[in-house]
Amino acid sequence: MNSFAELSDARFSVRKFDPKPVGREKLDLLLRAAQAAPTACNCQPQKLFVLQSDEAKNRLRPALRFWFNSPLVILFCCDTDVVCKIPQERPDYHTGEMDVSIVCTEVMMQAADLGLGSVWVRGFLCGDVKKAMDLPENLQPVCCLFVGYPAPDAKPHPKLHFSRRPIDEIAEIL
Ligand SMILES: Cc1cc2nc3c(=O)[nH]c(=O)nc-3n(C[C@H](O)[C@H](O)[C@H](O)COP(=O)(O)O)c2cc1C
Repeated sequence: MNSFAELSDARFSVRKFDPKPVGREKLDLLLRAAQAAPTACNCQPQKLFVLQSDEAKNRLRPALRFWFNSPLVILFCCDTDVVCKIPQERPDYHTGEMDVSIVCTEVMMQAADLGLGSVWVRGFLCGDVKKAMDLPENLQPVCCLFVGYPAPDAKPHPKLHFSRRPIDEIAEIL
């Protein structure tokens, strides 16, 4: 893959994985991407749980509406104790979901660059995930990323992946 544009064009949500484990070196690169991601005021509210063991995955599984059998399941949370707050916006407003979504996106693209597949999952109720993972009050679940080598027959979802709104509809150059 030569450029970011090519990587971005080639990426699709992988929902069928090869059981081959993701090696420690690749996992470390994913975690470095999570560390390098920009966050508001550099507050770095991200907290990742990398679920690798069956025991850890089985704790989370009942709380999620979607489940894919991948070697890694990463739960991305926001630490509301350290997140950037903007009280002028609303007393309880903070940038946590944005920050953690950027972190997850960077991990997703780093995974793609390493030849790994991934899919976001936000199909859950935060309360269910907090309970399943016994998260403290300050950790808010934001999303999950299922990560692993794509199965040989993994394909982009025929309806979800290919339909893109035209650029002149999603963006205006003023
Ligand atoms: C915030 C967010 C939440 C998502 N939640 C789910 C989900 O719960 N289940 C799922 O199968 N895919 C989920 N996806 C994947 C999207 O369905 C997918 O990215 C979209 O349909 C475009 O397809 P593509 O990633 O193959 O290009 C989610 C993606 C994002 C960005």
